[in-house]
Amino acid sequence: MSPGNEASNSTSIVIFGASGDLTARKLVPALFNQYRKGRLPKEFHVVGTARTEISHEHFREDMRQGVEELAHKVCPADEWKDFCQRLWYIQGDSKQSGAYAELDEFLQKLEGGPADRLYYLATAPSLFPVIVQELGKSGMAQEQDNWRRIVIEKPFGKDRKSAEALNHAIHAVFNEAQVYRIDHYLGKETAQNILYFRFLNTIFEPIWNRNYISHVQITVAETVDVEHRAGYYDKAGVLRDMFQNHLLQLLALVTMEPPATFAADAVRNEKVKVLQAVRSIPIEDTVRGQYEGYVQAEGVVEDSQTPSYAALKLYIDNWRWQSVPFYLRSGKALPRKASEVVVEFKSPPHVMFPLPEGYTLTSNFISLCIQPDEGIHLRFETKVPDSPKETRSVEMDFHYRESFGNEPLPDAYERLIVDAINGDPSLFTRSDEIEVAWGIIDPVQNAWEQTPAAPGLAKYGRGTWGPAEADAFIQRDGFTWHFGCPDHEH
Ligand code: BG6
Repeated sequence: MSPGNEASNSTSIVIFGASGDLTARKLVPALFNQYRKGRLPKEFHVVGTARTEISHEHFREDMRQGVEELAHKVCPADEWKDFCQRLWYIQGDSKQSGAYAELDEFLQKLEGGPADRLYYLATAPSLFPVIVQELGKSGMAQEQDNWRRIVIEKPFGKDRKSAEALNHAIHAVFNEAQVYRIDHYLGKETAQNILYFRFLNTIFEPIWNRNYISHVQITVAETVDVEHRAGYYDKAGVLRDMFQNHLLQLLALVTMEPPATFAADAVRNEKVKVLQAVRSIPIEDTVRGQYEGYVQAEGVVEDSQTPSYAALKLYIDNWRWQSVPFYLRSGKALPRKASEVVVEFKSPPHVMFPLPEGYTLTSNFISLCIQPDEGIHLRFETKVPDSPKETRSVEMDFHYRESFGNEPLPDAYERLIVDAINGDPSLFTRSDEIEVAWGIIDPVQNAWEQTPAAPGLAKYGRGTWGPAEADAFIQRDGFTWHFGCPDHEH
């Protein structure tokens, strides 16, 4: 099959690394769903490229299976039939210049005239610089009447230095406005809602500071282990895989100042500012763990010291957050999947009620439930009826599924791909932001690598909440880890 001539002024979405898991599991399902919702440009093509030799038909069939079996999305035959006519595959080795000439020719034939292009890099990160360079050399990055944009998957570098080098390589070909660095946490509805919750409601923002907040916990727990990704994971570890990006992005959303407008750069300026205010984290304020059996996974080096769990305490040195500890934790092979932010408030300054001696009051807290049971919960104290000496914590809760229907929330990639096509970079990480985030993580990563002991790598059982050291670590400050979001998926 060969591409026929289509009308001009179309949009091409070119996926490098198209034979990989991400394309079938996330990217094509996201594109298909947005197509069904009528949110893709009228004329578009999705062209996958990778080294594997497969036909267009084979690629289309793989993608259909991805939509149904990996992404668990409905795939009505008639809509898929129409959509898949726009799916193409071209074999090519992204390290070879010749592959770009062929790809460009293929695209031009398909486009049949001027066209916008989104290049999506879903390859191994080691290929990012060469693809960018070759796109530049072949003239494929050049904008004339039509735009050229590039989406870069994570991991974006492995430390600040390599992230700077990658930014430098990218900026040699694309200007920053053309670059979309993905952090899929920013595409999650619940993460976006953090800013709406804080800045669209007058009742929360006045208390969102050091005067009322005792501490904040951010948890991103996963039940999965490193699965088939051990080769990558063992070189990365939990700090690079989860903290530098997802956890720090959640932290920024919870702590940033309100920008004057919702323009992409206004929002990103505030995120950079607050990340710049994070105080350097001493090794004593960290815990690292590895689940039992981790080293048996294929691709893990013998005696690997790579942590699959970490807990960190950090402070933000600015007026709003001075002296408020933030506890961040994330790990694999934990008892359940849960991403949430718990904001715990200070105790009342004086209790006049005749409560029994030694009575412990539970602090108020607000839980922002990112996933899986998306919502927001507020916990507060009430008097137990008919008992003057007893109180109980009760909850006011908001569940997306109750307020907005049972339809699952759109996958993060749906929003992000369409934003990139529409030229809205608000939910993408800017070059300086990514470098600042690495600047927070690097000293911890380096300290861990240079100091194998004290506090060293602690083992934890699969299906437990991480090493016991993590509990002791937060208890040292008089707090305990807690969950404010319900323990079930819907
Ligand atoms: C990815 C990490 O960025 O995020 C994975 O590389 C992790 O290791 C995943 O499993 C978690 O994403 P989510 O959306 O399932 O919380």
